[in-house]
Amino acid sequence: MAESITITDNRTGQSLEVPIKDGGVAASEWSKLLPGIWFFDPGFLSTADAASSITYIDGANGILRYRGYPIQELAEQSTFLEVAYLLIWGELPTQDQLEEWRHDITYHTFIHENMRKRFLEGFHYDAHPMGILVSAVAALSTFYPEAKHIEDPANRRKQIIRLIAKMPTLAAAAHRFSVGMPFVYPDNSLEFAPNFLSMMWKVAEPRFEAHPALSRALDILFILHADHEQNCSSTAMRVVGSAHADPYSACAAACAALYGPRHGGANEAVIRMLTEIGSIDNVDAFVRSVKEGHGRLQGFGHRVYKNYDPRAKIIKRTAEEVFEVTGKNPLLDIALKLEEVALKDEYFTSRKLYPNVDFYSGLIYQAMGFPVDIFPVLFAIARTAGWLAQWEEMVEQDSKIFRPRQLYVGEGERQYVPLKERSA
Ligand code: ACO
Repeated sequence: MAESITITDNRTGQSLEVPIKDGGVAASEWSKLLPGIWFFDPGFLSTADAASSITYIDGANGILRYRGYPIQELAEQSTFLEVAYLLIWGELPTQDQLEEWRHDITYHTFIHENMRKRFLEGFHYDAHPMGILVSAVAALSTFYPEAKHIEDPANRRKQIIRLIAKMPTLAAAAHRFSVGMPFVYPDNSLEFAPNFLSMMWKVAEPRFEAHPALSRALDILFILHADHEQNCSSTAMRVVGSAHADPYSACAAACAALYGPRHGGANEAVIRMLTEIGSIDNVDAFVRSVKEGHGRLQGFGHRVYKNYDPRAKIIKRTAEEVFEVTGKNPLLDIALKLEEVALKDEYFTSRKLYPNVDFYSGLIYQAMGFPVDIFPVLFAIARTAGWLAQWEEMVEQDSKIFRPRQLYVGEGERQYVPLKERSA
């Protein structure tokens, strides 16, 4: 059977055969036959905007792989920094490469003093940490003006290292500022996750030692959130990056997309929902109200996964390990009951609605002491690796500037009406 489609223009009878390659058909072929006829695809539901080798998702079968490696294996055996290397450079690092990568990232964690003293302290006392992060990442571009030279691979590598390294520092600074705590400098003797936890929680002790199980859990959560192919924020990164803006500006745009509750805010919504349900006795009534159309079951359903999100399974296990240290999050029982009820209910099964990555991640963050406002900031630390991988790939491929078309549905030409002649 031919791996192709045939398009016929019924107005002229002309036909064109278009090959199906890598699961897609080239829109440029379509344009040969039908110039000026555009695909109407708001939200890009049926459009592939990139040929990418980074992340593979098979939503029907619940599969997620980074550069070919199953997410389960990476979560069990790898570290976030190794995964970041894999995503960006395409291969797992050798021992020497990993050492160099860890060293470079560790030694770029500091931020300019002006950033901390003048920039961050300029925010209102109750500023949302994600709002601070979006602006702070954009402001970084002014400290590194050479970042504009995106055609230079060595220069790109330097900015990539700076962004991955400084993100936890900015994230912790945003939190400390929003709760009126003094800034904690990075500790270069610590690994990535423990260093972040030190910057978040250190008070008066000479050295903050995070519990190893909590550091590991956070590292796993970072791995699980590191990339998810062409999601909203990665697309924002590509769109802005395609104009050859520097990576800090592009990354700020990606952060801004992640700030949106439809994207980075779902785990926060889960916590609010579970708190509102309040007791396992109320679960059945809550599920009934969702089925009657009163709101959605937060943390359930996914645009791509029509099966159990593979990340949700790993997170559920991680949650148990965290709760052994922190004590059980009291909302867990409600979450477990909710999942049990929903997975047996025809409404949810027939619509292929399963728990997604965010159903349990908020419970873990909350048990570890993170305030709800910081959840999207944690997501941003991890996703920076994916954003940069998508950006590096796009620049390497020398792709075109993003410039979609529209279907114009407004007025035809009309004459200007002077103000005094206009009626309401
Ligand atoms: N609870 C109840 N019903 C739902 C839910 C839900 N969480 N999600 C989808 N549905 C229903 C819809 O009402 C619709 O039913 P209908 O066919 O009777 O009208 C059907 O399932 C299909 O829903 P769509 O909105 O078309 O699915 P879509 O793929 O566009 O949405 C989304 C995916 C946005 C994630 C949705 O499932 C949702 O809102 N989930 C809750 C929020 C959430 O958890 N978001 C996190 C996503 S993961 C991430 O971004 C990191």
